[in-house]
Amino acid sequence: MRSSIGSHLIQSVMEQQQKKKVMCVGLVCLDVINVVSQFPEEDSDTRCVSQRWQRGGNASNSCTVLSLLGERTAFIGSLSEGPVADFIMADFERCAVDASAVVWQVRGQTPCACCIVCPSSGSRTVVLSDTNLPDVTAEDFSKVDLHQFRWIHWEGRNAEEQVKMIKQVEMFNSRLPQEQRITMSVEIEKTREPLYQLFPHGDVVFVSKDVARHFGFDSAEAAVKGLYSRVKKGAVLVCAWADQGADALGPDGVIFHSEAFPPQTVVDTLGAGDTFNAAVIHCLVEGGGLHDAISFGCRVAGWKCGFHGYDGIS
Ligand code: ADP
Ligand code: FRU
Repeated sequence: MRSSIGSHLIQSVMEQQQKKKVMCVGLVCLDVINVVSQFPEEDSDTRCVSQRWQRGGNASNSCTVLSLLGERTAFIGSLSEGPVADFIMADFERCAVDASAVVWQVRGQTPCACCIVCPSSGSRTVVLSDTNLPDVTAEDFSKVDLHQFRWIHWEGRNAEEQVKMIKQVEMFNSRLPQEQRITMSVEIEKTREPLYQLFPHGDVVFVSKDVARHFGFDSAEAAVKGLYSRVKKGAVLVCAWADQGADALGPDGVIFHSEAFPPQTVVDTLGAGDTFNAAVIHCLVEGGGLHDAISFGCRVAGWKCGFHGYDGIS
């Protein structure tokens, strides 16, 4: 009798957790994407093959992919009112990403990126204007009801404030039993010194090949080995390396590798890393192991490189 009450309780806690969302914290911007047959020469005047507007930004892209993978998803980042923000909000809605926590800034412009996607070389070149819109602060973040989430992912940006947000979640977690706690991940993508303070703050830490190279590592395996001492006890460190796949290292000291899964033809690599992160998080959230998670991440990211945008993922 007692064990049946126990198993009911466990089941209902699990069901409640499954209803909770994954939230991504970071950038949302407008990507104006030019698809070109050949990368243009400097100071030339050429025509593109096609052009489109797309909601972008690492955290925002990861939300899109999480949602396409069937995860309940929420986004928090900054926007400034206007037609660009209208486009972005409509697209969050189209993709079933809860954007109710967006912080509406009264000064500054919504960031916008000019992107050149070149299928013949597989390159994606981004020039981002992200100059004057304030980032979400720890105070903004404190207004969010944390009970809704089972995983929160931070794209490293205003790291000092983000560490304060993480501390809020740690405090929240400390009052809950293990199985109801929020798992936290951070992405350290840009080679900016202040971002490195995020290393010891995620249960899962994603480090980019740019950052890995900056520290002198020339493979994902060398990076996870060499940077592991920076993460907190028990954490997992993940490094994706474009067409070389990805590696991950957890507390048991075993390094996992996944090869890349290139599509028949590489078409659009913009946001491959954001897709990888989302797919890894999705797999781990659903109880998958680390090796399965990076392999799933590489499969979904590789698949995504075979078409424009993200909609083809589901
Ligand atoms: P970012 O988009 O941040 O530069 P990466 O280039 O490291 O990220 O790619 C992330 C993941 O996307 C890789 O681990 C890989 O699985 C996949 N990927 C990226 N580029 C390719 C490619 N040309 N072929 C196959 N998979 C790729
Ligand atoms: C892709 C992306 C784009 C955006 C740029 C910002 O990873 O998030 O959507 O324009 O990077 O750095």
